[in-house]
Amino acid sequence: MGRIFSGMQPTSQLHLGNYLGALRNWVALQDSHECIFCAVDLHAITVPQDPVALRRNTREITAAYIAAGIDPERCVLFAQSGVTGHSELSWILSCHTPLGWLNRMTQFKEKAGKHRENAGLGLYAYPVLMAADILLYKATHVPVGEDQKQHLELSRDIAGAFNRAYSVECFPLPEPLILGEATRVMSLRDGTKKMSKSDSSDYSRINLTDDADTIALKVRKAKTDPEPLPETLEALETRPEADNLVTIYAALAEEGRAEILARFAGRQFSEFKNQLVDLAVARLAPMTDRMNRLMADPGEIDRILRRGAERAGEIASRHMAEVHDLVGLLRP
Ligand code: AMP
Ligand code: TRP
Repeated sequence: MGRIFSGMQPTSQLHLGNYLGALRNWVALQDSHECIFCAVDLHAITVPQDPVALRRNTREITAAYIAAGIDPERCVLFAQSGVTGHSELSWILSCHTPLGWLNRMTQFKEKAGKHRENAGLGLYAYPVLMAADILLYKATHVPVGEDQKQHLELSRDIAGAFNRAYSVECFPLPEPLILGEATRVMSLRDGTKKMSKSDSSDYSRINLTDDADTIALKVRKAKTDPEPLPETLEALETRPEADNLVTIYAALAEEGRAEILARFAGRQFSEFKNQLVDLAVARLAPMTDRMNRLMADPGEIDRILRRGAERAGEIASRHMAEVHDLVGLLRP
């Protein structure tokens, strides 16, 4: 059956890309798999964070997971810093990771920008910590959006390098699960850029905490071209903004993009956007309500995270004992 692991950084509010590209798929997987989901706060501190905001965001992302449908009884749900094995395994794996592999990581290049010499070691080692997250639980499948594909390939390479170093099959090679119509949701302001928390314009994304009026405003302001909706998917290829809105619609409606085009071909974007607003509000508003109710009781969220960390910790300590034996470290 396999074991699922995934996580998101508690850096700010989640947006529609996080939901359609990842979170919604997690919810579906909990019926068929053993699932472990994590708020990766140690990843968040690879760039400067305000401590008070970080704690709040960790609780908020947990509330978002639950509001989206993650069941903390059926799944293990916890914060990364609550299980020490993540940092420990990350160190051990970093001793099996050639620098050349890390130098290829495009996310580091993007995040470090021009002043690479000033970027932190944590930002550089970020993908090794991600490999540790997955391998600590010997997860077999990792549901993520398309932007994490390269990091997943590195996790597989690191697992292979460790197994070869000790001539064992300790870690399964984790498979990415990149599912659904919207594996890469684009910015509402620029159809060639990914929808992202770090975009300076809030109009570029729909946040899971946006109310109906804000969603309506953002969708109506979303960039489009003057042409009506086309009949074929091929015609969308040269129209990134139109393509993105159709993709978002299809994902929210849980239909194919071709079916959406069949319904809207020849119509103006103003009309399509009105329908998209109704659909987005219908899908997101109940989740936002649930999230707000959960956030009213942070003590309960902390209890859920503590219980999750205990359950995750049991699996992690078994696997860490095995790693210590293989590497020649005394048992923890
Ligand atoms: P992050 O916000 O970088 O912690 O990403 C959390 C999860 O959301 C990861 O699985 C990402 O691949 C996914 N994700 C982030 N942005 C997008 C996007 N624009 N479209 C689809 N998936 C995304
Ligand atoms: N790097 C992932 C992102 O930004 C978050 C992440 C950290 C993750 N550890 C993970 C995702 C382990 C899947 C599995 O989206």
